[in-house]
Amino acid sequence: MKTEKNVPFRLALSYDDVLLVPHYSDIPSRKLIDTKTMFSRRIELRAPVVSANMDTVTGSEMAIHMARDGGMGIIHRFQTAEEEADEVRRVKRVESIFIHDPITIQKDATLKQALELMDRTHVTGLIVISEDKTIEGILTARDIRFKTDTSVFIKELMTPKDKVITAKPTISSEEALRILDKYKIEKLPLVDAKGKLAGLITATDYKKTKECPNASKDKRGRLLVGAAIGVKDGLERAELLVNAGVDALVIDIAHGHHKTCIDLVKKLKKQFPSVDIIAGNVATAEGTVDLIKAGADAIKVGIGPGAACSTRIVAGSGVPQLTAVMDCVAAAKKYKIPIIADGGIKNSGDLAKAIAAGAGTVMIGNLFSGTKESPGEYYIESGEAFKIYRGLASRDASIDMVLRGDKEIGRQERAPEGIGYRVTFKGEVRKIFRGLLDGLQSGMSYTGAKNLKEFHQKAEFVRITGEGMNESKPRSHQI
Ligand code: XMP
Repeated sequence: MKTEKNVPFRLALSYDDVLLVPHYSDIPSRKLIDTKTMFSRRIELRAPVVSANMDTVTGSEMAIHMARDGGMGIIHRFQTAEEEADEVRRVKRVESIFIHDPITIQKDATLKQALELMDRTHVTGLIVISEDKTIEGILTARDIRFKTDTSVFIKELMTPKDKVITAKPTISSEEALRILDKYKIEKLPLVDAKGKLAGLITATDYKKTKECPNASKDKRGRLLVGAAIGVKDGLERAELLVNAGVDALVIDIAHGHHKTCIDLVKKLKKQFPSVDIIAGNVATAEGTVDLIKAGADAIKVGIGPGAACSTRIVAGSGVPQLTAVMDCVAAAKKYKIPIIADGGIKNSGDLAKAIAAGAGTVMIGNLFSGTKESPGEYYIESGEAFKIYRGLASRDASIDMVLRGDKEIGRQERAPEGIGYRVTFKGEVRKIFRGLLDGLQSGMSYTGAKNLKEFHQKAEFVRITGEGMNESKPRSHQI
């Protein structure tokens, strides 16, 4: 038995076992505290928070909101590879000032086809082009507002090209803004010297860019997004996701310290060198180093701390999350590879503890579930609104995978390592996200740290007892 070498067993702690000791601070306002961090080797974020690749947490809607607030969302893989790539494409398209591949339609299509396309891609206007990409017109919400006959052809509804204001692809953003303002238009198609469509600039994107100065963006001004892949179809799925513009591929394996995960990391690194590869999950220094040596650009840490996890109960395996994070941070330090503390964040205090322990980011499922932006409909019961949150290894999720053909029949019979439950509808995720960040900045202020590097250096934990935890919680009744 391996533990014989360190009998009595080494103590492992979780977030609730510790508190951060307050230290001298000269920071005038916690709003001045910088929460910039590294998510992976090449991806920097302004906020150390990412949403989990779970089918009740992150689709394109959640990912867009995460990136706008300075974090990042990881699109789940519980859908076909094409669907997942479409979700990535949606995030990449939504907020770049310069859209390279606008959604287009041909003039012989019907209004019905246009409406379906608008619905699927969540865009409000389509550029009408010929087969060789020559611009023919534009179809905006204004053109179709009062139309009821959906069999009408687009050519009869569109604003024709001679009435469409266009610009050269080389236009500066200031000049584009001036044109949008002057002509009171929402969309400015970019057309090259041969009359072919070369891009699109929209008024909405300007507005959003101004509203979200901390947004996580790539070099082309598009929001950052990650997407999950499994082992079974990992390489093929990765190819579609990379073509859709994904910034990070996250290998979604419960036990990442495994030959299959190591092999997949090596293959992905070789095939897709421009995209950061995130590997996990692990809970030990050995697991971290093996995945880093295979080429991983960030390591996801957490075996069983999640709110919907039952791995530790079913398999008896795992490491309490604070110790797991600290062990993995210490191992990854030499390689300068960031750690993602995945699961078990119950409040902003846990976030502060995870980051103080050296994690680059935390990954959150439960806290972001049940929001307006999480996938799935809410339902009303006894006058209250609910949404579902479920573990990826829950019986429910396994049955859905079997039904979709992604898992062999019979696999759903095995002991599930996750559960599903309903959560009260929480409204907009932004409130939760900002509350978490506020709490983190407060924790940093108590430590006297102006940025995450200082936070990690200055942080001092004390171990507390159950009574210490009880004392920490508010006790009197709220007024
Ligand atoms: P929280 O606590 O934020 O955790 O809800 C989210 C993380 O939980 C992990 N996860 C699972 N772990 N069985 C597990 O043991 C499961 O069915 C399961 N589903 C999700 C995952 O790492 C996620 O990011």
